[in-house]
Amino acid sequence: METHKVAFFALLLVTLSFLAGEAFPVKNPFHPGIVMPTENGPDDDEVGTRWAVLVAGSNGYGNYRHQADVCHAYQLLKKGGLKEENIVVFMFDDIANNELNPRPGTIINHPQGDDVYAGVPKDYTGENVTAENLYAVIMGDKAAVKGGSGKVVASKPNDRIFLYYSDHGGPGVLGMPNMPSVYAMELINVLKKKHAAGSYKEMVIYVEACESGSIFEGIMPTDLNIYVTTAANAQEASFGTYCPGMDPSLPPEYITCIGDLYSVAWMEDSETHNLKRETVNQQYKAVKSRTSSGGSHVMEYGSQGIKPEKLYLYQGFDPDSVNIPPRPSNVGLSRTDVVNQRDAELLFLWHMYKRSENGSRKKAEILDEIRRTVTYRNHLDGSIELVGTLLFGPKNGPQVLNKVRGPGSALVDDWQCLKSMVRVFEGKCGSLTQYGMKHMRAFANICNSGVSKATMEEASGVACAGYAAGNLSPLNVGFSA
Ligand SMILES: *[C@@H]1O[C@H](CO)[C@@H](O)[C@H](O)[C@H]1NC(C)=O
Ligand SMILES: *[C@@H]1O[C@H](CO)[C@@H](O)[C@H](O)[C@H]1NC(C)=O
Repeated sequence: METHKVAFFALLLVTLSFLAGEAFPVKNPFHPGIVMPTENGPDDDEVGTRWAVLVAGSNGYGNYRHQADVCHAYQLLKKGGLKEENIVVFMFDDIANNELNPRPGTIINHPQGDDVYAGVPKDYTGENVTAENLYAVIMGDKAAVKGGSGKVVASKPNDRIFLYYSDHGGPGVLGMPNMPSVYAMELINVLKKKHAAGSYKEMVIYVEACESGSIFEGIMPTDLNIYVTTAANAQEASFGTYCPGMDPSLPPEYITCIGDLYSVAWMEDSETHNLKRETVNQQYKAVKSRTSSGGSHVMEYGSQGIKPEKLYLYQGFDPDSVNIPPRPSNVGLSRTDVVNQRDAELLFLWHMYKRSENGSRKKAEILDEIRRTVTYRNHLDGSIELVGTLLFGPKNGPQVLNKVRGPGSALVDDWQCLKSMVRVFEGKCGSLTQYGMKHMRAFANICNSGVSKATMEEASGVACAGYAAGNLSPLNVGFSA
């Protein structure tokens, strides 16, 4: 009865203030003194501490956008009241002061955006951005951390954790600027261990990467109190945005993409809503809708019970946002142009090529870089295809390698096998690189078909006999000279 009355009066006040317009200037129709029934949530004291882990998995100026996403996320959470000591940042940190950066010392994540770099803590940079450190940080295991600031998620049972990752990926893997990559099962096992330790209340995870759904599909438990959304399903690319020559247009001095579609979708959604009102589910829907305009399908995994919760429990609350009128989450967003994550690097090289002086040595060098990139990609594609032919025959090879298991099934049954098949291939054929991560499904299917390590070793050796003798070399991704 009591709540109904409050709701009625709140509604009345809202109606009155809308009708009264200028004569009754209430900036926020939901007067702060009146709590809407749906807003009844725990007070800040009861919330526990909010923790965040932000990870940019790439390096190189051509991958500007991933570190821009992560810096932006830091600013958003900081504005929301999370404390620096509770936000752990992983980024290679080679963008702001890169010689190609037209605005030295700054990073932007929107064509008209302000600097998002200033103040971002350098917890784990350069060589210290590793999968092992990420696992140790999530576990709150200070002793296991190697290098960096030593900051870890020292969370308590009542705390909430927000984990956000942006980079290249592939079926079953997320890239890191230092090898090895994050393997899906390893990450899930860390989450299981964290849950078993009882050291958090709930967790929300956002992941932007190609095939990011494959990290959780069929293997993410629903009873860890962790809710996950991913930029893409298990078998499609994710997309960079705010790139040169796109609409909306970038300042002309930028020759690289400065954002990723799913990432800017959630952050721009958070920045234009009152996070004490918006739910995790509302953001999921808004981000899914905007990201689908670029062609990838936002997916969700884990504990669905978290979806009705308000976002401020994870991302904090910016007091200025009370003045934002309530509105549907995806109103007024135009279609955003995008580029496949895996083509963004070539797009960057192409813009660099166009920019450089005709006839210069630099131009010739960039052309050589493009040539080597394309040649190496062809080498990887061709070698894996050939391995498939050797193992399964010319007719069945492609079918076996590209086989997609049904929704709800894990990519691979034996994750250890996946890791070792990749190692065997790389030993004979060279580094998979960020581009080659797209072939992870082929390795998974080789495992699922029961091929032995010895047979794989033999097939890879034959497929890449020319490579071993030749002068092809894997490239340093993100040409930076
Ligand atoms: C890695 O961490 C160590 C220890 O904190 C530090 O001395 C080193 O400078 C770090 N490396 C980079 C590239 O930041
Ligand atoms: C290089 O030459 C082409 C035509 O040959 C011209 O269109 C282009 O603007 C020139 N680029 C630069 C950077 O001078």
